[in-house]
Amino acid sequence: MYWETIADLLHHPRVVETRHHMHHSVSKHDHLLRSVHFSYYLAPFFGADQVTCVRAALLHDLDSRYGTLTTHGAIAARVAAELGEPAEVSAAIISHMYPFGPRPTTREGWVLAVADKLASLADLGAFVGGLLSGHSLRVRRQLCQSDPFYAARYARRRHRRLISSLRRRLGRTGLSRWRLSGQTPQAH
Ligand SMILES: [Fe+2]
Ligand SMILES: [Fe+2]
Repeated sequence: MYWETIADLLHHPRVVETRHHMHHSVSKHDHLLRSVHFSYYLAPFFGADQVTCVRAALLHDLDSRYGTLTTHGAIAARVAAELGEPAEVSAAIISHMYPFGPRPTTREGWVLAVADKLASLADLGAFVGGLLSGHSLRVRRQLCQSDPFYAARYARRRHRRLISSLRRRLGRTGLSRWRLSGQTPQAH
C-alpha cells in the first residue's frame, strides 16, 4: 500500500492542518487522501512512477485557497518544492486542474489530473451520502468554525447581517446616530 510512501508527509504540520480546512464542503485532508488512493491505483495504468504520484496527490491542494481554479496548482507546486519534494512532484501538481489549468507534461501529471477529478466525485458522493444522517452538515459546520479562512468569512457575513437588520429596524438615521454615539442600539 501507499502509507509507508507518505508516512513522513502525513505527520507534517502543513498536511495535518488540512484536517481542519474545508474543501468543497468536506475536509481537505479527506480529499487529499482520496486523491492519494486513486493516484496509487491509476499510476500503473499510465506507466507512471507510483511514489511521485502519491506524494504529489497528498500535497496537490495545499494553499489552494490563495489561488484560483487555474492558478492554485502552481501555488501548491511551490509549497511542495518548499517542503523539499523533487521537481517531478511539483511538475505533477502544477497541472492537476487540467483542463482548467495547464496541460500535464508528465505521466504523473496525467495520473494526478484524473485522480483529482475522481476524488472530487468521491467527495461529492460521501457528502450526499451523509446528508440523510446529518453527518455531512455536522462536519461542514465544524469545518466552518475550525477553518480560519471560513471562520473569518462567516464572521464578516454575520456582521453584515447584523448591520442590515439594524438598518431595517432603526433606519439609516438612527444607525448613523448610534455609530456616532458609540452606543449599543436597543432593537425592539
Ligand atoms: Fe486543486
Ligand atoms: Fe484536488
